[in-house]
Amino acid sequence: MTAPPLTRVIEAGATAADAAADAARTLAAGGLVAFPTETVYGLGADATSGAAVARLYEAKGRPSFNPLIAHVADLGAARALARFNRDAERLAAAFWPGPLTLVLPRHAPCPVADLATAGLDTIAVRVPSHPLARAILAAFGRPVVAPSANRSGHVSPTTAQHVLADLRGRIELVVDGGPTPMGLESTIVACLDGALLLRPGALPRAQIEQLVALGEPPQGVAASADADDVPIAPGQLASHYAPRARLRLDADSVEAGEALLAFGGAPAHGAARAVMALNLSPRGDLIEAAANLFSHLRALDAAGVATIAVMPVPHEGLGEAINDRLQRAAAPRP
Ligand code: TXA
Ligand code: MG
Repeated sequence: MTAPPLTRVIEAGATAADAAADAARTLAAGGLVAFPTETVYGLGADATSGAAVARLYEAKGRPSFNPLIAHVADLGAARALARFNRDAERLAAAFWPGPLTLVLPRHAPCPVADLATAGLDTIAVRVPSHPLARAILAAFGRPVVAPSANRSGHVSPTTAQHVLADLRGRIELVVDGGPTPMGLESTIVACLDGALLLRPGALPRAQIEQLVALGEPPQGVAASADADDVPIAPGQLASHYAPRARLRLDADSVEAGEALLAFGGAPAHGAARAVMALNLSPRGDLIEAAANLFSHLRALDAAGVATIAVMPVPHEGLGEAINDRLQRAAAPRP
């Protein structure tokens, strides 16, 4: 799917099963599908495909890779992705399907692409209750990442018309199921050690507190209702993936003992010296590069080198987000 998409619209009124089958086929082909949930419209992509997830960031125009919520059909499918502690079990039993997202330790291995979780060891999962969302997830049979279906910096869409105003010509399909019932994003609770409210949302805090004690997130940790607007601060729960190795950015040569993260065809000077070398995209494709970014960084870091030399990545398109992440990973840490 490389040509600019036409953006088909299906009205799902009487034909939910057809719409769900169409959406599932489009997702399986690596396409982007906007669909209603009980909260807001989501922009869905196959969570297991790094390339599909990279296209999703490109369509939204996000200047950075924020981690995404993996939507699944039921608790069993969620258990395949993440580890549930007691609090998580209770909350899932009480509120799924529904407008609650749980941030949990991600299983290793987990079929969700590293890009979708921005390289983190945690994953946000949710089982939506909207009948169309459920039908699509059941028909597709794999996790679907879905941020709100708006362009970066805009408000979350609650109708198919909002979605089209932002994303027509950038995504393959919009499943129009009418206005979303709640109109507010899901509430996000992290169940790592204790339970923490990361984002207030459609499920009221008081209902959660009837079941589990909610701790206060440390300063600066809470996710924002619209993550698109707010750059993630260092130390924030959603952004702590960083390699152990130092990153040397815009490298045009490799020094002895370094690993190499290459981009494009022309190898860096002295590339043969690299302890280990991986190329984000030998043909210089930024979507392919984004899809490989976190897994390549992890693999090079695992080689145990002190420094990873990173060749320059152009700043256009997804390159902006790739460079944003590389700069965060290169920043000195306390
Ligand atoms: O209601 C919703 O949750 C909608 C519908 C479509 O499901 N989705 C949504 O997604 O609002 P998005 O991407 O706009 O917001 C997801 C939030 C972001 O603030 C992100 O930083 C946070 O979830 N998040 C995702 N994974 C995380 C993680 N592993 N740790 C902490 N925060 C995470
Ligand atoms: Mg959003």
